[in-house]
Amino acid sequence: MEKIVIDGGNALHGRIEVSGMKNAAVPIIFACVAVGDICVIENLPCISDVETSLEIISSIGARIRYLSENSVEIDSRDVSPASAPCELVNKMRGSYYLIGAMLGRFGSVMAGLPGGCDLGARPIDQHIKAFEALGAEVTVDGGFIDVQTKSGITGAGIYFDCVTVGGTINTIIAAVRAKGTTIIENAAREPHVVDVANFLNYCGANITGAGTDTIKIKGTEDLHGCSYAIIPDMIEAGTFMIAAAATHGRLYINNVIPKHIDAISAKLVEMGASVEEFDDAVLVSHKGALSPVTIKTMPYPGFPTDMNPQAAVLLCLANGTSRMHETIYENRFRYVEELKRMGANIRVDKNIATIMGVDQLSAATVRAVDLRAGVAMVIAGLAARGRTEIDDIYHIERGYDNITNKFKAVGANIHKVVIPDPFVTI
Ligand code: EPU
Repeated sequence: MEKIVIDGGNALHGRIEVSGMKNAAVPIIFACVAVGDICVIENLPCISDVETSLEIISSIGARIRYLSENSVEIDSRDVSPASAPCELVNKMRGSYYLIGAMLGRFGSVMAGLPGGCDLGARPIDQHIKAFEALGAEVTVDGGFIDVQTKSGITGAGIYFDCVTVGGTINTIIAAVRAKGTTIIENAAREPHVVDVANFLNYCGANITGAGTDTIKIKGTEDLHGCSYAIIPDMIEAGTFMIAAAATHGRLYINNVIPKHIDAISAKLVEMGASVEEFDDAVLVSHKGALSPVTIKTMPYPGFPTDMNPQAAVLLCLANGTSRMHETIYENRFRYVEELKRMGANIRVDKNIATIMGVDQLSAATVRAVDLRAGVAMVIAGLAARGRTEIDDIYHIERGYDNITNKFKAVGANIHKVVIPDPFVTI
């Protein structure tokens, strides 16, 4: 068992690097299967969701060769239309991109249903609606999804009933090889949607409109490999921004696309922190009191739901009462009970958390209940007085590259420790 131990109270100072974006890296790895050639992917984050994605595609015949810690060559020419092992697919939500990739390439696929963080019900009805619109027959039974066509998919018009990042990306990945043109309306506009479309366009696809709510994909069989670098992770950047403000520190956060973090910067400024933008970096610093604010999570370009738990830690330290209004997930507030152990004063009523600021958080033993909740505990531990211990850190390692060393390098007293399992005898 591993845990993170933090002796809190140090202000973070210095320069910190942001890694490539998890939620772009994962679909791009699966999109390589749709391309069916040799691709080199750079700026990959070292996180377990990337490792699992690579394991999944190698289980069906892709050849993986690491060129460096952050770049990998993926040869998917010999991928076969087999099913990937369920225990791998169940480990992560993003494994559903395998369905789009295999459907586009082979015209049918049978796969286990995806796992991922427990944030409440996370249906994939919009993905299924898109696959059906493209001409597939879809059956979901006994934890499996079976998607079949007689002779491949055909372009179609798809109007999503809700803004779905996964549904939008999965449809793009499937439709690049469809016969004819696909038009997605009410598409998600997240930067990772644009990154996946850019990657596929480098491989010869014809995708226009990514980044707007209408995306057009003209299908082609003429795809080829390319070299592509993943964009920086805006959520990791936002996490560092909050950590700087929460510890009254000053962090130069490098490898950032400032436009992607506008919503986060705006809230930090509203709370009284200083955010200075450079071409590919932001400098965040804070001293003194933080003002309370209201935050409402929304699809991009709104405030990201994946920053809800981290931002809530900062609201705990504000001088007054703030509100966190969650509009994407029904169960995003599982971190609240953990923060309460650290002295937070939070009341949750349905999808709104009312957060009464406290002078200081106090150290405690807490759990990472999901990925973003887990990293919120790290920020809380950095800001708190005393020693905080965080259990179940595998959640954090699904999405944060080398987080303890990155924080240690800017002054945090933070360590990952391995606790021997008492039931294992050697
Ligand atoms: N939804 C449906 N039906 C669908 C798809 C989505 O009702 O078929 C609903 C969801 O239940 C949710 C909302 O639509 O209420 C948004 O879901 P979306 O499809 O946009 O999310 P996702 O693709 O499952 C990705 C990220 C999440 C991130 C969301 C929102 C991956 C692998 N996951 O999830 O990332 O929160 O987009 O930006 O890309 C994380 O990184 O910690 C994380 C949870």
